[in-house]
Amino acid sequence: RKVYLNDYKPFGWEVEQVSLTFRLSPRGTRVLSRIAFRPREGGRFFLHGEGLRLISAAIDGRTVTPEVTDEGLTCEVPDRPFLWEAEVEIAPEDNTALEGLYMSNGMFCTQCEAEGFRRITFYPDRPDVMAPFRVRIESDLPVLLSNGDPVASGKGWAEWHDPWPKPAYLFALVAGDLRAVRDSFTTRSGREIDLAVWVREGDEDRCGWALESLKASMAWDEREYGREYDLSVFNIVAVDDFNAGAMENKGLNIFNSALVLASPETATDRDFERIEAVIAHEYFHNWTGNRVTCRDWFQLCLKEGLTVYRDQQFTGDMRSAPVKRIEDAAMIRSRQFREDNGPLAHPVRPEEFIEINNFYTITVYEKGAEVVGMLHRLVGQNAWRAACDLYFERHDGQAVTIEDWLAAFRDTTGRNLTQFMRWYSQAGTPRLSVAEDWDGQTLTLTLRQHTPPTPGQQEKAPQLIPVALGLLHPSGPEILRTQIVEMTEPEEVVRYDVGALCKAAGLKTERPVVSALRNFSAPVMLEHDQSPKERAFLLRHDTDPVNRWEAGRALSRAALTAMATGGDADPQAWLEGLEAALTDETLDPAMQSLLLSLPSEDDLAQSLADAGEAPDPLAIRHAVEAMQDHMAETLEPVLTRAFEATAGTGPFRPDAAGAGRRSLHNACLTLLTRRDEGTRARETFARADNMTASLGALNALLSVGAGKDELAAFEARWQHDRLVMDKWFALQVMRASPEQATEVAERLTQHPQFAWKTPNRFRSVIGTLAGNAAGFHHPSGAAYDFFADWLLKLDPVNPQTAARMSTAFETWRRYGPERQARLRATLERIAASPGLSRDTGEMVARMLG
Ligand code: ARG
Ligand code: ZN
Repeated sequence: RKVYLNDYKPFGWEVEQVSLTFRLSPRGTRVLSRIAFRPREGGRFFLHGEGLRLISAAIDGRTVTPEVTDEGLTCEVPDRPFLWEAEVEIAPEDNTALEGLYMSNGMFCTQCEAEGFRRITFYPDRPDVMAPFRVRIESDLPVLLSNGDPVASGKGWAEWHDPWPKPAYLFALVAGDLRAVRDSFTTRSGREIDLAVWVREGDEDRCGWALESLKASMAWDEREYGREYDLSVFNIVAVDDFNAGAMENKGLNIFNSALVLASPETATDRDFERIEAVIAHEYFHNWTGNRVTCRDWFQLCLKEGLTVYRDQQFTGDMRSAPVKRIEDAAMIRSRQFREDNGPLAHPVRPEEFIEINNFYTITVYEKGAEVVGMLHRLVGQNAWRAACDLYFERHDGQAVTIEDWLAAFRDTTGRNLTQFMRWYSQAGTPRLSVAEDWDGQTLTLTLRQHTPPTPGQQEKAPQLIPVALGLLHPSGPEILRTQIVEMTEPEEVVRYDVGALCKAAGLKTERPVVSALRNFSAPVMLEHDQSPKERAFLLRHDTDPVNRWEAGRALSRAALTAMATGGDADPQAWLEGLEAALTDETLDPAMQSLLLSLPSEDDLAQSLADAGEAPDPLAIRHAVEAMQDHMAETLEPVLTRAFEATAGTGPFRPDAAGAGRRSLHNACLTLLTRRDEGTRARETFARADNMTASLGALNALLSVGAGKDELAAFEARWQHDRLVMDKWFALQVMRASPEQATEVAERLTQHPQFAWKTPNRFRSVIGTLAGNAAGFHHPSGAAYDFFADWLLKLDPVNPQTAARMSTAFETWRRYGPERQARLRATLERIAASPGLSRDTGEMVARMLG
């Protein structure tokens, strides 16, 4: 059944107070609830509830017999404030969906966002019902945690009180035999907060980075947004079985253990960076999400887009802002554009859904963050901060909408944001074309925008697009610094008096080189015909790092797509530009490493599809390998120098500078391994004292079909470490040849450690197969069948993760007739399979269109 944004109606009662008692037991947990309701509009009294065995219910002490269905209960209630009491029984041990209260390695834990609380007890499980919670946990387990501040505890029980009114999706409970690693943080108003990361015995030495990241996040939010923490404790728990990355439950964040635990020996630089960002993300939700929450789930981007934007700012501050911006722009361009241009396209704020869990997407999160970033850039830093302050002040303790968010900006700046609102309501990626006209004196740019139709939205209106532009003199210097054109119409013309600009700079008047959409100023697809010469020039001279990188990308993409289609490929400009970048000592190694990276095979497939050609993933793989050979051959001396210059010095520290050096080192190693039969990679592997180095070397070896012994040595060393073993599983599938990928994945599913009900492990094998584009789309069709079989096996056990993985098929229409027919048949087979979950059912139906 579909839910629509336009059908929103507030709940007819206010919840004044919630008290819960949990008598924990794996097969029969009893949950006792006491909920104080006060009538507002009233209406039909309905409480959500799924999979609950109702033991008893009473109103003001008098037993009632409500009418119970699969989705909840209805009951006659008095027309005055009343106390609802109920007792239900649930079986956490049988909960494989990992939604509600479930078990992981003997530990009880919860995941309630979006609609998991209804699997714990009967409740108005909607984000606009906010209430203070008291929780009592009874269990023999030594550690009993819930939201808020600890009140009291004794042998076999503990009580918690969360004074801040919150929606049920932020409820959390953890009980287990856990160890704490503790620290503390003093807020700017002088309150001391006890911080703890709770983990299984043996993981204590991997919590330091999470705690450092947490303290840095707390200080940053005070400094940048004036937001202080508001409870006496902040707890983080690491859980091995988790559908998502992490969850911002009030005062009790629960994390996928892969996003908390880190040591130099077991985690890569990427892991350290992600942990820092996700810790920050969940912490920042305390204000953007928890204190001010969403009125309904259509407003998910209200908290997610804003919180992602804040964590991006944080990472930019902690590390390199340009590198972070390039990575974010690259992710939007590849993965978000893919979603926006396929059958799953939806607005940043969707208007209908069947299963909300299917809308925790890159569009809601990352495009949502881009929209927030555009707003920031449009109003400027001072107004941004003032509007955020106003938003927090106005809506603290409320559940609000995107309209409320934008109203804070309208009221701060006086700006009319009606057109800007389209970024939230209109799906699809706008195409922005730039046409140049040069008359020897004046440069005329004609900007045109249009957004192609998306499912359910045929007609598109023009967006407000901030287009950041700069001009460079062909001799190198910038003659026009970044300027923002606020485009509002389908077509606009901008003129530059280049004669005057050149004169002012003391330069001869010449046709300038245009740098458009600097800093990726809007999430649009730029269509700007530039010659390889101009691109090579921008790669060398642009003052904007994002466009410098993009110029390189455009060059390598053009060469690769030509190679993949048997066309005329001339990688000369790309290789020369790359050589210059690698020898440019002013460039940060992280930036050099980014410049060295090639577009992903999926990006190349999309580029070909955009150009109206059916991509052949095998041809793309061959093109990429040929290009790597070419790069390794022509650039061998520079690569060798960069490889040696970045060789390990001193102990591992997970900071941006060290990570940048190691990233460049690994990128060079991967290419050089194509020339030295793996000598350097074997040496590196043998000497490696950190995971970034070992995995980098192993990756280089596997990518040339070597590394058998190293793979075995790695397994022998790490077989008892589940997080490292996830990497071992994934790397083999990722690096398998197109012919062998399915076989490799298949063999790994027979490995004794292939615990398919654990989402991380499932993703590391099955999910990674979809990431090996040439293997997944091998013409035999074996991967499609294998993937679909596993999806159908997982679906009844864990629909949420199965549905998410089904997006591997979202690009099916871009391929040629044979692959398309196979993909369609596979999707139809999934769609027709009996008992398919609502989650996967919705996804497959949307993909089939
Ligand atoms: N709110 C969490 C976060 O972004 C993610 C929750 C994911 N839940 C889901 N149903 N997919 O930090
Ligand atoms: Zn979030």
